[in-house]
Amino acid sequence: MTNPKLTIRRPDDWHVHLRDGAMLQAVAPYTARQFTRAIVMPNLSPPVTTIDAARAYRSRIEAAAGPGFTPLMVAYLTDGIDGATLAEGHAAGVFTAAKLYPAHATTGSAHGVTDVKHIHSALAAMEQAGMPLLVHGEVTDPEIDVFDREAVFIERIMAGLVRDFPGLKIVFEHITTEEAAQFVLAAPENVAATITPQHLHINRNAMLVGGIRPHAYCLPVAKREKHRQALRKAATSGSAKFFLGTDSAPHRIETKEAACGCAGIFNAPFALESYAAVFEEEGALEHFEAFASENGPRFYGLPLNEGTVTLERADHTVPDSCEAVDIVLVPFHAGETLRWRIAS
Ligand code: NCD
Ligand code: ZN
Repeated sequence: MTNPKLTIRRPDDWHVHLRDGAMLQAVAPYTARQFTRAIVMPNLSPPVTTIDAARAYRSRIEAAAGPGFTPLMVAYLTDGIDGATLAEGHAAGVFTAAKLYPAHATTGSAHGVTDVKHIHSALAAMEQAGMPLLVHGEVTDPEIDVFDREAVFIERIMAGLVRDFPGLKIVFEHITTEEAAQFVLAAPENVAATITPQHLHINRNAMLVGGIRPHAYCLPVAKREKHRQALRKAATSGSAKFFLGTDSAPHRIETKEAACGCAGIFNAPFALESYAAVFEEEGALEHFEAFASENGPRFYGLPLNEGTVTLERADHTVPDSCEAVDIVLVPFHAGETLRWRIAS
């Protein structure tokens, strides 16, 4: 008997951090192995805010990833950023989308937006241009508990954005709560969400039980079990509003295992295999292809990929680390057994 196989249209990653320099060289091949295109987050230092910077970064990614992979570039929104430049970059095929990082919400967000009123004219220009807004949905108010920051963001910011810019395509990135899943489902068609593999696999216990586990720490932070269950239901429901975005966010091992460790989970090596496990466990493999390969491009208004990828049911153990020259990265699921693997 041969192993069960699952063939789907080639997928894309609608949210990834590829970094730059030696780290880019180390991680780009992992994403390119699995995905045809990826939305590449712009939180470099300095962030990607100009058309020229995005063009140059795109070339560096293409060189690191090799042929057959298309990076989709994102503008990093800053207070007062010029809407005309965003629209021009979009029309020129450089900026696929723009990212809203609330200032100081996460890694590389120091230049982020201090108040959405400072980007109102930019958002109006994006709405006009049909350019999607990608949102890191967490408030930064120090009075708000870190586990509540996404739910409070919906009330304070997201609901107003959806109301005030009814024609703006909005992706609520890496949702982690039942509230966010419900908000997106109830919102009009121009609102969608990405979901990471880690938020489908782990709840906050993974980070905090039996010792503090820095490799399970990312932002937005994993929440309690009922939220994980709600995300699994949303991702595997067949709704076109939810699609694959890994939020793979590599940090060197020494910056993860530190007194003040960086936020981010490096899931690029086995992301597709990780998602497949969830769809199988939920009895929803028939919805896997739409989540991985169709809902995203349809939302962005991009063509579906040609070609396919085949996964086969075969146990394999995820290595404890991935190493490249002097960089050591601990992948998501390190030391665990995954049941699917890419066949070819
Ligand atoms: C991301 C990073 O390291 O760039 N970290 C993370 O935990 N997801 C930033 C982000 O997307 O919040
Ligand atoms: Zn991210």
